Amino acid sequence: MTRATGLSLTASGTIPQELLDLPWHLPLVKWPADVLAALPRGISRHIVRFAYLGGSVIAIKETSERAARHEYRMLRQLGRLGAPCVKPVAEVTGRADEQGEPLSPALVTRHLRFSLPYRAVFNQMMRKATLQRLIDAQALLMVELHLLGFYWGDVSLSNTLFRRDAGNFKAYLVDAETGELHPKLSAGQREYDLEIAQINIAGELMDLMEGGFVDEDVDAVATSGQFIDSYRGLWHELTGDTAFNPDQQWLMEERIRRLNELGFDVEEYDIRSASDEGHLLLRPKVVDPGHHQRRLMALTGLDVQENQARRLLGAIDAYRAAIDPHGDEAVAAHKWTQQVFQPTISKIPRELRNKLEPAEIMHQLLDYRWQRSESEGRDVPLEEALPHFIEDELRGYRDEAILMVNPPTDVMRQMELEANSATAEDDDAGHDEDASAWYS
Ligand SMILES: Nc1ncnc2c1ncn2[C@@H]1O[C@H](COP(=O)(O)OP(=O)(O)OP(=O)(O)O)[C@@H](O)[C@H]1O
Ligand SMILES: [Mg+2]
Repeated sequence: MTRATGLSLTASGTIPQELLDLPWHLPLVKWPADVLAALPRGISRHIVRFAYLGGSVIAIKETSERAARHEYRMLRQLGRLGAPCVKPVAEVTGRADEQGEPLSPALVTRHLRFSLPYRAVFNQMMRKATLQRLIDAQALLMVELHLLGFYWGDVSLSNTLFRRDAGNFKAYLVDAETGELHPKLSAGQREYDLEIAQINIAGELMDLMEGGFVDEDVDAVATSGQFIDSYRGLWHELTGDTAFNPDQQWLMEERIRRLNELGFDVEEYDIRSASDEGHLLLRPKVVDPGHHQRRLMALTGLDVQENQARRLLGAIDAYRAAIDPHGDEAVAAHKWTQQVFQPTISKIPRELRNKLEPAEIMHQLLDYRWQRSESEGRDVPLEEALPHFIEDELRGYRDEAILMVNPPTDVMRQMELEANSATAEDDDAGHDEDASAWYS
């Protein structure tokens, strides 16, 4: 849509009035504090700011017209393909200040709630095992994107956002500026992307190590090599051949189960005869991530991440075994949602709801209850564990619902201090019955 000033916004669907009302006639660096969602913190090539839009938060990046248009289109296409990436809101061009001087075009995306820039992950957790999980999440993201035919062109930790996912991380693409979508990637394109990833990740890790944010025994170059191994292992598992004889159907079932375990559904596969006598080769043709996610969604309506879903499905199984082992799974899942999940989540004091997402809270509470049961040598009920979990664990977390651009080292130190000195606040706030309100 075009305004008299020449301002032009491209978006899908209707453009909210609040978006038009933002001070587009000012360069981003001069936007007043009352429209910004937080103080800018960051080291990024472009100017990026976060602003309120109705009840949610958007990220605005000033860039060139060509880049804004390209990235907006890429993110839309990736979104349609179901890729884990930030959602585009609009591409803004034709900006000018009050004197009519042109201003940079901008790309607007929806802020991904509870996402952490990699530097923010490191300011609290710098152990080698955590790093490995972060690297594995990045490798999985790259495999998912490559399977869709997306060549990234600038793979790096800073172009990725991480969300906690039941002890692991889920990675999302945030910067698609250099990306290209193809019907299928060649081995050469994938290798080229891997090369870029290896260099960028090693550089980013060295930077973190210089700042003292990673265990001393971590080797940046070896870790970026592990990223490549993790990528290749997954790629092979998802796209490689399994050889079997016609009377070895179980090998086929085992392969599919392994893929399910990794979180993928096999939508289609090819079976063809191998060159050696009698052997068949199975190769997955279309694999779809989100195996546990979809199952949990069908059973409970809860929309959570893959590992969280796996964890909650485990909790539902245990609940069913306790209340009615031969009963229907769907009934048990429904009861668990109504009688365990929702009541637990509704007891989280309102001022602590920006700390972690509900499914992540449930995962951590289950872990906490398990540890307490083990140390006390008895089954500690969830209701008994909950208040202790809130005081001992949850309150110590920083608010992770909206964390800003990759913070530089001095800001990370400050955040660490703030998190450590988080004081107990008053928790008399009311309770919401519906946990889904948290996600908006
Ligand atoms: N929709 C979003 N949700 C959450 N964070 C975002 C979003 N968009 C951008 N960011 C944050 O802003 C940072 C910079 O964005 P982006 O990578 O698109 O810009 P850039 O100028 O290319 O930065 P860099 O040079 O660091 O790659 C990201 O690393 C991320 O932390
Ligand atoms: Mg970037």
